Amino acid sequence: MQSSIRRQLLEIFSKSDGEFVSGQMISDELGCSRTAVWKHMEDLRKEGYELEAVRRLGYRIARKPDKVTGNEIHLGLQTDYIGKNIYFEETVESTQKIAARLVYEGAFEGTVVVAEEQTSGRGRLSRTWHSPKGTGIWMSVILRPDIPVQKAPQLTLLAAVGIAQAIEKCTGLSVGIKWPNDILINGKKAVGILTELQADPDKIHAVIIGIGINVNQQHEHLAEDIRQIATSLLIETGREQKRAELMQAIFLQLEKLYKQYMAEGFGIIKLLWESYAVSIGKEITARTMTNAITGIAKGITEDGILMLEDREGVIHYIHSADIEI
Ligand code: BTN
Repeated sequence: MQSSIRRQLLEIFSKSDGEFVSGQMISDELGCSRTAVWKHMEDLRKEGYELEAVRRLGYRIARKPDKVTGNEIHLGLQTDYIGKNIYFEETVESTQKIAARLVYEGAFEGTVVVAEEQTSGRGRLSRTWHSPKGTGIWMSVILRPDIPVQKAPQLTLLAAVGIAQAIEKCTGLSVGIKWPNDILINGKKAVGILTELQADPDKIHAVIIGIGINVNQQHEHLAEDIRQIATSLLIETGREQKRAELMQAIFLQLEKLYKQYMAEGFGIIKLLWESYAVSIGKEITARTMTNAITGIAKGITEDGILMLEDREGVIHYIHSADIEI
């Protein structure tokens, strides 16, 4: 089906808010024959929509498929720019790689790259990120903030807060953040965020926020090596979550926080981040490639750097590490 017709059709159903829409009304709005309407309905069915058709009442959507295509995300999106421009591919190596290319080609702020599956998903500290087909959210959000390069880590923390808020709103779960930006539910990781910069020493061209969320995986579908420390929203709530709805909520929260950040600075974001932090005030070990420091996590600096006080009372400033609580 032509994507513009598909979008118009989905908009008609969205406006009807679950009520039946007559075939005549659809044919008038789309400017096509009743036979063509019937054919479009068959196409929607093939795409996974469950449609109810009742004589004299018309059609309504009984169940939508759980897809993350641009159409699914646009319908009901409440933002001004984040998520307005969606670049969707079924399978990619990494959405980060595509986002980097789009930045180079001049992509607008708020452009999002999303895929159903990644074959070489990238994690922090050069790890891989397991991104199986159809069950998670694998996406990269492009921002173009006019801020000094050293402030970029603040956006990583901002992203974690926005995602935490959106997950709580959509699922009713209570979540925590482990520095810098792992989102934990009942102590297990459900979300990872990888922030990459395109910048000169004195100017940021773009920040690419890569977001991986385990949404509808059952326990046995999580990668074996992380099964004991990872979780998904399905595991925690016992029910499937429509991924496009969660993405819309994330874009809305991210945009609200980002606008506030650009207008007022990091202050509020820092407070919000600290309200979610699970490691502050606790003894933790920060492990890097070369060493490990154990101490009490004292908080974060104004630039979003972790402050760790060791047993001798020396404060260490941690820019990048794995945290063990
Ligand atoms: C982490 O190690 O915790 C960060 C994981 C980030 C994964 C996401 S999935 C979408 C985007 N594309 C990638 O290749 N990685 C990020």
